[in-house]
Amino acid sequence: MPRAASPSHAKTAPRIVKSDPRERWAQAYGAVRAETEWRAAPLSEEDQQIQSMPDASPAKWHRAHTTWFFEQFVLVPHAEGYEIFDQRFPFLFNSYYVAAGPRHYRPERGLITRPSVKDIVAYRAHVDAAMTQLIEKAPDDRAATIFALVEVGLHHEQQHQELMFTDMLHAFAQNPFDIAYLPDWQPPRPEGGNEFAQLPSGLRTIGYDGDGFCFDNERPIHQTYLQPARIGRGLVTNGEWLEFMRDGGYVTPALWLSDGWSAVETQGWSAPGYWRQDDAGWSILTLGGLKPVDPALPVCHISYYEADAFARWAGKHLPTEFEWEVAARAGIIDGAFGHVWQWTRSAYLPYPGYRADPGALGEYNGKFMVNQMVLRGSSLATPQGHARTSYRNFFPAAARWQFSGLRLIEYPT
Ligand SMILES: [Fe+2]
Repeated sequence: MPRAASPSHAKTAPRIVKSDPRERWAQAYGAVRAETEWRAAPLSEEDQQIQSMPDASPAKWHRAHTTWFFEQFVLVPHAEGYEIFDQRFPFLFNSYYVAAGPRHYRPERGLITRPSVKDIVAYRAHVDAAMTQLIEKAPDDRAATIFALVEVGLHHEQQHQELMFTDMLHAFAQNPFDIAYLPDWQPPRPEGGNEFAQLPSGLRTIGYDGDGFCFDNERPIHQTYLQPARIGRGLVTNGEWLEFMRDGGYVTPALWLSDGWSAVETQGWSAPGYWRQDDAGWSILTLGGLKPVDPALPVCHISYYEADAFARWAGKHLPTEFEWEVAARAGIIDGAFGHVWQWTRSAYLPYPGYRADPGALGEYNGKFMVNQMVLRGSSLATPQGHARTSYRNFFPAAARWQFSGLRLIEYPT
């Protein structure tokens, strides 16, 4: 597993080596659920209510939705005699699983003031008690099925832990008081200079080939042909981004894709997300509050469009997700994990032969394979134990509220 720096206080890797799988899964379940609570702890009830844009969700909703996931996909089918905590909750806390029933309109999650945060705390406790009992008493003939679903639920909750940070940072960015989510937080510092390393070329294997957990979109493993190339060892930094800005990067249409230039014009982009300028220079709102932009740190909160324009300005390219994966596996890039997700120039598409599983959980990844770009690596907000070399994150090209940055690649001319 890759090493991923994280502000997390707890190690939450779902796989903990213990001889009895019941004990192992009970411990993993408790650790991941505790991490969610740790991330919620600095937030007031008012903080947890806010939905600052349609793409973001209230922290309260994240805490409830991850709980509904276990209730819907583990307890209801597998815990005999389990009683749903509140029959009204599935409508509110189902996100996008059409096969699991009707659901509330996503952009209006912030309008739901009741159930309260206290109600959600009680919901989590109810489901935690039932889950712990189910795991500890799992019958031998169904244990493997139940634990596989628990594992999906834990990785799902970890994804929402990252979203709790990114969504709340967006909400705090609307507040004139420069709120610090984690007042003692300091940005992690990646290693790596600005040299380029020779990428292994030719036929290469892509996808997850281990015996641990992966999402269905990381399979089937398959072969891809890579052209000779040299990949940037380090992440693009704020200092390099400032050069791009000083050189007119945001006011030069020739550097931009058509949709990207439209985004620059309509959204008024002139710097990465959460950057502000005053007499002292540029600063950025981070998890630790407002901080001066540090030229040595990786640039963060940029869209695919911005990453693409930067690469064009630099006379380089963005790597494909396959080039990125081969480079990460070869150990020739620095800062791959635990800093910023790295945009690739790969559209989010199924691997050859991919089929989503039947049933509601088959809606997890496959139905989103259009109009999004792949990001690789992991970010400073990704919980410990969640990152993988084959992991495929994906967002629309204009999204920049995630901890997203880039590295470059060059080809022989
Ligand atoms: Fe979800």
